[in-house]
Amino acid sequence: MLDDRQRALATVDLAAVRHNIAHLVALLPAGTALCAVVKANGYGHGAVPVARAALRAGASWLGVATVTEAEELREAAIAAPLLIFGPMTGAETARAAKAHAEVAVWSQAFLDEALRRRLRVHVKFNSGMGRLGVDAAAAAALAAAAGPGLSGLMSHFATADEDDPAFFVSQLERFTALAGQLKARHAGLSAHIANSAATMREPAAHFDMVRTGIAIYGLSPFGDDPLPRGLRPALRLSSYVAAIREVGWGESVGYGRAFIADGPARLAIVPIGYADGIARALTNRGDVLIAGRRCRITGTISMDQLTVLLPGDTAAVRPRGPAAVRPGDEVVFIGRSGAERILAEDVARLLGTINYEIACDVSSRVVRRYADTPAAGDAVRGPSLAGLPATPRAPLGMSPAGGPADPA
Ligand SMILES: Cc1ncc(COP(=O)(O)O)c(C=O)c1O
Repeated sequence: MLDDRQRALATVDLAAVRHNIAHLVALLPAGTALCAVVKANGYGHGAVPVARAALRAGASWLGVATVTEAEELREAAIAAPLLIFGPMTGAETARAAKAHAEVAVWSQAFLDEALRRRLRVHVKFNSGMGRLGVDAAAAAALAAAAGPGLSGLMSHFATADEDDPAFFVSQLERFTALAGQLKARHAGLSAHIANSAATMREPAAHFDMVRTGIAIYGLSPFGDDPLPRGLRPALRLSSYVAAIREVGWGESVGYGRAFIADGPARLAIVPIGYADGIARALTNRGDVLIAGRRCRITGTISMDQLTVLLPGDTAAVRPRGPAAVRPGDEVVFIGRSGAERILAEDVARLLGTINYEIACDVSSRVVRRYADTPAAGDAVRGPSLAGLPATPRAPLGMSPAGGPADPA
């Protein structure tokens, strides 16, 4: 029974990725390209399988942060146009040329280096993000100096996901003005600024290409429920019950005795921990799903293990009932189980962070398995991997309250 269990498993639904790409492409006018951002190992989902799924569904470019990420895609024989967003050393620039990647430039020195290596370049305009990039006059000068090596003009929004549109609009206005100017001077120049949030909220931000990351994974760029936004979460993160432990009054579990039973309690020991990406800050706060039931992570999360309180399932109350949790049962951290689900957005809210970080934190020792399931409501129903509820439910996922959970 346990043979088909993985200690720490990320199941990535490539049909969901394709659905999300198609959903985004449908927002774009004809002729606007979609660059699928697969940096950081595809936001933890696996860069190569996601890139292939994205290209199959209508993406035509791929975006990465580093030259190593570009090389990984090329080693997998992915030939699509590839843009590296981040800064590079001289040695990395040589590797980027070998990988036939295009690169972002924001200095004359780096432009010279890139052109010497026959790289095509995208001039990075700082329209307000305030990190890398140059002002409008310097961007125009770099574009002129790039000659036939010029491929694009790019910028990046700082607040596209925020309710207040003021800064977003000011960035868009600055970019629109410069893009108009440079497109008039440089035929074929590709102007691009939109991330997922901008792509979904503002058609005027689409220009010649959008660079979408978070939304292609079915995660909401706005941190809310992705389903009403037409996105399907691709990631399911799970483990299994390795053992059940019954404790009595006063017995504790785990480091620091963060849980002390105040009566008979049943706990599941789950062989996944913070080294797999289950944040230690979820101790006594996060929930998991076991056989469709929501259970609290109880006791300190260790590097490789955690414990879950099985409410209403105590030795005294229900030792062997049909609903009793047993070794081998699946434990879901992100995803659906029965009528319940936990979104990456729920976990992020509980931790005071963003869904990007939850997905990226799924560590390299978590096994990635790729599934391809039909959507909920499709005529053919697959295994429950990505069968998501048709309507969103509230409240979302996890309890916002900290502190020790009530013992059963
Ligand atoms: C330059 C650049 N473009 C596009 C993206 C994609 O952003 P998002 O994941 O919000 O769609 C990123 C990600 O941070 C980025 O750094």
